[in-house]
Amino acid sequence: MQRILSGVRPTGGIHLGNYLGAIRNWVSMQHQAQESLFCIVDMHALTTLGETESLAENTYAIAAAYLAAGIDLNKASIFAQSHVAAHTELSWIFSCITPLGWLNRMTQFKEKAGKHKDLACLGLYAYPVLMAADILLYKATHVPVGDDQKQHLELARDIAGAFNRRFGDDLFPIPEPMILGSATRVMSLRDGSSKMSKSDISEYSRIELMDNADALALKIRKARTDMEPLPEKFSDLEGRPEAQNLVNIYATLANMAPDAVCQQFVGSNFAPFKQQLVDLMVATIVPIGDKMRQYLADKVMLQKVLTAGARRANELAQSHMQDVRRAIGMVAL
Ligand code: TYM
Repeated sequence: MQRILSGVRPTGGIHLGNYLGAIRNWVSMQHQAQESLFCIVDMHALTTLGETESLAENTYAIAAAYLAAGIDLNKASIFAQSHVAAHTELSWIFSCITPLGWLNRMTQFKEKAGKHKDLACLGLYAYPVLMAADILLYKATHVPVGDDQKQHLELARDIAGAFNRRFGDDLFPIPEPMILGSATRVMSLRDGSSKMSKSDISEYSRIELMDNADALALKIRKARTDMEPLPEKFSDLEGRPEAQNLVNIYATLANMAPDAVCQQFVGSNFAPFKQQLVDLMVATIVPIGDKMRQYLADKVMLQKVLTAGARRANELAQSHMQDVRRAIGMVAL
């Protein structure tokens, strides 16, 4: 039995990395799973909230993106994390069994806190514990994410193991990370050594799902490459991160193996390859952006989706929290 849970932070424009690394895989996995829950992790967004950002608007945009990408409400629930209070409840319980040493290893905290660790908020430090609660609250078995979430997933597995050992019962399944496909780490279009991210100051570094055809074409044309032609095999792109990135993006959008993409363009320079990549993106990404705009124009519909999702998520969460209370030895009503 597969129970899938995953989520995206509503902190700005949802981008190609979120889509190829995560959401696209959710769309195919939802059909095999017994239950799928796709969360908009707005409590996590609080850890890095910019002053001008609108959490509500961003939350609707992520819900619209899930629907536009093909999440099927007959198979899956879409909900906001803040609408299920048990996430923070379980997070507290996990905080009491998670050694600080485990959190001190988390590289994302080190990156985000930067030099001024003492000024970083407690929420940023505790972030991975809340993430473990997101997953384990639903006894999720499979968690489809991009490569950058690997360490957080390992922590969630460790916390599940620690809880099971301490309180018995094997209450939590050990969740399996699903890091699938050839675009598990989509890189910035401006710098092949850093990942595509919502927080990069250059908008040319990322493709956003709501970019129109002109914006897409401009960003791909400006994308950094090198002077060498494309080789016959993907492995020959070693040491050419920008080229690897574009080939991986192409391969994923075209449902091809990266080697097959290299064979198709072998000997060619980047101009014709980029033109075909733009065509491919216009055919695959622009329709998602168009649908997002349509959904975003109907907030009443989006609210209904979030209400139904929250109802289902709370139902599961309440029942599982009773199991947790019982296992710990609290009074379970
Ligand atoms: P977030 O919001 O940064 O990203 C959402 C999903 O997109 C993936 N992703 C990428 N994949 C490939 N290339 C990229 N450049 C790229 N950038 C982002 C992420 O791996 C992720 O799957 N901590 C999580 C949110 C979260 C969560 C959870 C995920 C909170 N609770 C429970 C799964 C289960 C995050 O910050 O994702």
